[in-house]
Amino acid sequence: MLNRRILIGITGGIAAYKVCEVISNLAKAGAQVRAILTDGAREFITPLTVATLCRHPAYIDRDFWAAKHHKPLHIELGEWAEVFAIAPLTANTLAKLATGMADNLLTNTVLASKCPILLAPAMNTDMWQQMAVQRNWQQVQLDPRYHRVGPGAGLLACDRVGAGRMAEPEEILPYLESLLQSGGKRDLSGRRVLISTGGTREYLDPVRFIGNPSTGKMGLALARAAAHRGAEVTLVCGSMDANAIASITASLIRVKTIAASSAAQMQQAMLESFPDADLTCMAAAVADVKPSSYSAEKLPKRSLPSQLPLEPVPDILAELAKRKQPHQRLIGFAAQTGDIVAPAMEKLQRKKLDAIVANPIDKPGAGFGSDTNEAVFLDNRGRELRVPSCSKLQLAHHLFDWAM
Ligand code: CTP
Repeated sequence: MLNRRILIGITGGIAAYKVCEVISNLAKAGAQVRAILTDGAREFITPLTVATLCRHPAYIDRDFWAAKHHKPLHIELGEWAEVFAIAPLTANTLAKLATGMADNLLTNTVLASKCPILLAPAMNTDMWQQMAVQRNWQQVQLDPRYHRVGPGAGLLACDRVGAGRMAEPEEILPYLESLLQSGGKRDLSGRRVLISTGGTREYLDPVRFIGNPSTGKMGLALARAAAHRGAEVTLVCGSMDANAIASITASLIRVKTIAASSAAQMQQAMLESFPDADLTCMAAAVADVKPSSYSAEKLPKRSLPSQLPLEPVPDILAELAKRKQPHQRLIGFAAQTGDIVAPAMEKLQRKKLDAIVANPIDKPGAGFGSDTNEAVFLDNRGRELRVPSCSKLQLAHHLFDWAM
């Protein structure tokens, strides 16, 4: 995000307060942020609030008509922006975008710019469901410049529970990062991507299990990156934060999730979804073994065995490789300590994969729970790519650039 040029258009809805968090996070990450407020937006938040968070004056319609700029302001901003987000997007501004109307600084800047535009609508459910609003929403999506995030369903400020809630900053921020990284390309459009993520748990009784500390962040990043590039995504989720799963499905219509706690459940979900997948990424940390027996009642401490008989769980990835058709691509992950390349190469060959992502789990800023990662990509044609430390979302984009 460092020094990237991000333009935020804010229109008149109560969700305008939430965009302050987006701006604040972008500025903290070192991005250059400029913002335009419509007259409606100024009823909800002040230009001073936005300017303070941007570390730069916020633009309002009065600036559009001021003769103090060396170029017309909308041209200057349009040429300046690498990516543009309109959040919240009201029904009124949506209608203007759908018809190419330009009657204020924000809509003139849209027409004077060429960068990808992320739209985050927010309105009352009845407004959102109006035929005219839905028609405009479909219309803007015919234009490849426009990317959509949300709206989700939930409790609205009008006390209704329904569709129309603006996407959370947690989803707007990675989408902007994706658009900056990929330039807004939709090269995975029409592709179906299957991803497993999170750790599996193998229970001994209802409270005790064998598991691992995987948080599923790498798989979530893969799902976001693929969906942002136009893919239809199925995300099979092992044990991980339920809020992260809810957030992604509320904002990205192209992501479907399936819960799978144990290796057996994950195997079933993966085998069912695999025949339709063009690309499969097995990022889950599957527990390799399970207790040989399971007690449906919680075992009292005195009944716990001093030694735990174990048995292996199925190797899901190896099974997928056996069923793989020539048009399908299958990518494994190898989280390793020490030398990461040799063991990953051995897994690539043993499991008959197209490619594998070797990543260290013994370095700071990489592996389980981290927001950043580094990796070596290896494939069955002998290609090797080293990706230095970057966000997991950027790593996901590098992988799709390299693998597709
Ligand atoms: N994997 C899988 N099913 C398993 C174990 C692993 O599908 N039962 C997948 C992982 O999701 C990952 C890849 O295989 O994509 C490599 O996982 P890893 O645990 O590193 O490999 P193992 O085959 O278990 O080898 P080892 O534990 O001996 O390193």
